Amino acid sequence: MNKDVTILAIESSCDETAAAVVKNGREVLSNVIYSQIDLHTLYGGVVPEIASRKHMDKINQVTAKALEDSHLTLKEIDAIAVTYGPGLVGPLLVGVSFAKAMAYAANLPIVGVHHIEGHISANYIANPELEPPFVCLVVSGGHTHLVKVSDYGQYEIIGKTEDDAAGEAFDKVARAIGLGYPGGPKIDKVSKEGNPQAIAFPRAKVGGNVYDFSFSGLKSAVLNYLNTQAMNGETVVTEDVAASFQQAVIDVLVGHSMEAIDTYHIDKFAIAGGVASNSGLRQAFEEACAKKNVSFFMPPPILCTDNAAMIGAAAYYEYIKGVRHSLDLNAVPNLKLGEK
Ligand code: KG4
Ligand code: ZN
Repeated sequence: MNKDVTILAIESSCDETAAAVVKNGREVLSNVIYSQIDLHTLYGGVVPEIASRKHMDKINQVTAKALEDSHLTLKEIDAIAVTYGPGLVGPLLVGVSFAKAMAYAANLPIVGVHHIEGHISANYIANPELEPPFVCLVVSGGHTHLVKVSDYGQYEIIGKTEDDAAGEAFDKVARAIGLGYPGGPKIDKVSKEGNPQAIAFPRAKVGGNVYDFSFSGLKSAVLNYLNTQAMNGETVVTEDVAASFQQAVIDVLVGHSMEAIDTYHIDKFAIAGGVASNSGLRQAFEEACAKKNVSFFMPPPILCTDNAAMIGAAAYYEYIKGVRHSLDLNAVPNLKLGEK
């Protein structure tokens, strides 16, 4: 009989201090997330040094709570998993150092996890029937990747952003129209009151790889629109700007993904990352995939934004393949997907 594998996972790559206990990659026994968002709102974005300090304050408490909520003790844990990149170096180092100290003290193996692999794996938790191969669009604050998941832990990048990530565009545009940080959820909410056809913002195509994305032109178009309106003494309807911007992002993300579905003959498609919690995006993908008869998967919003349950899910598939890291594991801020 196969033995269960229970993993205690830690995530601290940006501004969420998170820990979770996950059984066999799919069953979440606990999922504790301490969001630092309120702390960074004051500055209009994540301040790395403040984030690092807050992670240090919180990581012990968050991890203890994750163990407590799981009703397990460290003795019943098989491995400690931790995000070791990509992300902010200070925040990553807090998680990696903490995980190593715990692993050493409890004599447990460590599995280092790629943050994007974590986001993709959130889909395994939410959809027990989902197995590779499938294609996943990862849209977060730092990444916009269209990834072919050939097998567990095996990735081929079909397309990626040439400049800003989708979430970064949401955050910058939100700041420009006075909604503040974090931009994504605020634009999502305000867009519901606006007209997505009010302003014709560009849907950028990039040269070279047709599956690559570009969002900096769209961001500039929004800024230009705001300046022109101000110079002409015209009012700006924030709801319409938000809705029209969001629609432009959705059109590009869905458009590229549907092209990839056709070319690569994909029958299973998933979305992941913070931007995947956007209500307009979720609905647009559901409709577009249904039209093509493609099975569509998405994690619930709480597993789209940063959390440690997704790290525990990804770590399980690495663990059963025999992946172990040693106590010299370091934070790798620009770790590439597929690198071990
Ligand atoms: O995955 P995540 O929590 O952290 C990174 O790995 O970056 O993603 C955070 C990003 C932020 O840019 C945030 O504005 C965006 O996800 N986001 C959203 C929504 N919720 C979070 N973007 C659009 N709509 C949302 N509802
Ligand atoms: Zn993330």
